[in-house]
Amino acid sequence: MKDIIFATGNEGKMREVREILKDTGRRIYSMKEAGIAAQVEEDGATFAENARRKAVGIMEWCKKNGMPGCAGKTADDFIVLADDSGLEVDFLGKEPGVYSARYMGYDTSYREKNANIIARMDGVEKKDRTARFVCVIAAAYPDGSCETARGTVEGYIGWEEAGENGFGYDPIFYLYENDLSTAQLSAEEKNQISHRGKALRGMKEKMKQRGF
Ligand code: IMP
Repeated sequence: MKDIIFATGNEGKMREVREILKDTGRRIYSMKEAGIAAQVEEDGATFAENARRKAVGIMEWCKKNGMPGCAGKTADDFIVLADDSGLEVDFLGKEPGVYSARYMGYDTSYREKNANIIARMDGVEKKDRTARFVCVIAAAYPDGSCETARGTVEGYIGWEEAGENGFGYDPIFYLYENDLSTAQLSAEEKNQISHRGKALRGMKEKMKQRGF
């Protein structure tokens, strides 16, 4: 059975991914654990394009350089998973979208980014505050093939931050079902409904069907 490298430097994402994939029985390495120093530009126009670029780019890097953190293994022993994800706010023309991580600059805190989005929606009624988190997972296989799975979760932008869990835009993204922000959900509750949970479960199914 092949192990998995999940191509992210984001610890929040890594925690979610480990939880969702733990029933696969595969060993899951972060880039850091695998000793991968590759940098892949995320300048595609869509989430799918960026996810594919990352997964394929890292697989190619591993084929060339090996994985210093995975003793005795080669790229043939792995599937590289990468995701691209972000927040689409309908009233803002689907911003920040693929620019979610870069919105207002990488070094700007999420407290500021979230406050800015709320300020830009001043006076907007609940029915027009619709938004969604989108995630596309790409899987790059050692034979050079690549496939993707997409997941979304619908919600709305609240009027203030709430909750301490999750990361990024979670404190301002509220669910219609219970008017809680995704930062108010436990990790388990978020994984059940999240864009990343849905995309990863879809990818698990695809990997199974392909016999990986
Ligand atoms: P990526 O690492 O290029 O996929 O950037 C994704 C960015 O979208 C993150 O840095 C967050 O700003 C935002 N994002 C994606 N998923 C979530 C989530 O589950 N909660 C909060 N923010 C998220």
